[in-house]
Amino acid sequence: MSFRTIQWRDDKVVMIDQTRLPAEEIYNEYSDYQGVAQAIRGMIIRGAPAIGVAAAMGVALGARDIQASDHESFFREFETICDIIAGTRPTAVNLFWAIQRMKRMAEAHRTLPLPTICKILIAEAIRVEEEDLAICKAIGANGAKLIPQGATILTHCNAGGLATAGYGTALGVIRAAHEAGKGIKVFADETRPWLQGARLTAWELMKDNIPVTLISDNMAGYFMKKGEITCCVVGADRIAANGDTANKIGTYSVAVLAKEHGIPFCVAAPSSTFDLSIPDGSHIPIEQRSPEEVVNGFGRRTAPEGVKVYNPAFDVTPARYIAAIITERGVIQRPTTETIQRHFAERA
Ligand code: MRU
Repeated sequence: MSFRTIQWRDDKVVMIDQTRLPAEEIYNEYSDYQGVAQAIRGMIIRGAPAIGVAAAMGVALGARDIQASDHESFFREFETICDIIAGTRPTAVNLFWAIQRMKRMAEAHRTLPLPTICKILIAEAIRVEEEDLAICKAIGANGAKLIPQGATILTHCNAGGLATAGYGTALGVIRAAHEAGKGIKVFADETRPWLQGARLTAWELMKDNIPVTLISDNMAGYFMKKGEITCCVVGADRIAANGDTANKIGTYSVAVLAKEHGIPFCVAAPSSTFDLSIPDGSHIPIEQRSPEEVVNGFGRRTAPEGVKVYNPAFDVTPARYIAAIITERGVIQRPTTETIQRHFAERA
């Protein structure tokens, strides 16, 4: 891949600014945790695994800058920093997973000198990034086996290199199938209102010379009915214990359409996207974003002033619509509480 989504460089966090794509490829530098928190909230960086990496790096930056002479005040302030980063976006569980991982690391080394704890936290944040890249490669390899030769794959939102440390989850499967010479093609849903599909998925697939056709969200059924879609592969923001999956708003509609047309609908996600503490998708908090994204999303107003607007950023696809969940550990066919439990127990 010819871009880096996020990296720790010269004691700063560097991110490609996803609000500026595809027009401009600009990299922002953040030297404090407040900047990273603002970048997550403002979608400079987005996509569940990438948000997790950003959160870990934000926590490391914050810890490094704590001015405390004793451990008690260090850990008090550390907790506040973690809370602030946790408050940025509610749906992608990878954010909370990464913060918990950083907290556990700090706790495990609680008695060491404070500068040593900070160094350990920076190393851990970099490890989160490196591991995510390896995990995406494994998801890709596991998922590519499910993709038939010459398939046309519909994807929604952006679950690509831009949404992860690199390579992607859904786009990881697509990249791996492409690299395996399967001669695949991609249909990318535009993904209103924020246009992750148009702005990001189309951009990164074109950069890698993977054939992509952009459609607006309301065209998916038309192409399914015409027999032009072989399968759907999407990412996830949070997967409940029974397989119900939160992903970008509009994913549920794609899954229902796919079922109607007998098209396999697959989810690709790392283990860190599973929230086994919740029994089903009704417990997943859904982020509500600004109405401006709906009425002013194209650089100009597209609706009357004062119109009432809803803007939920995610929806939940019930597990019964999902043919398979692809993780770095393998494939969960027909996800249920039992098949998911078995997946994690057998591959612990
Ligand atoms: O609001 P976003 O752009 O952060 O939403 C992203 C998605 O819904 C992705 O499909 C999901 O996070 C999976 S990314 C590998």
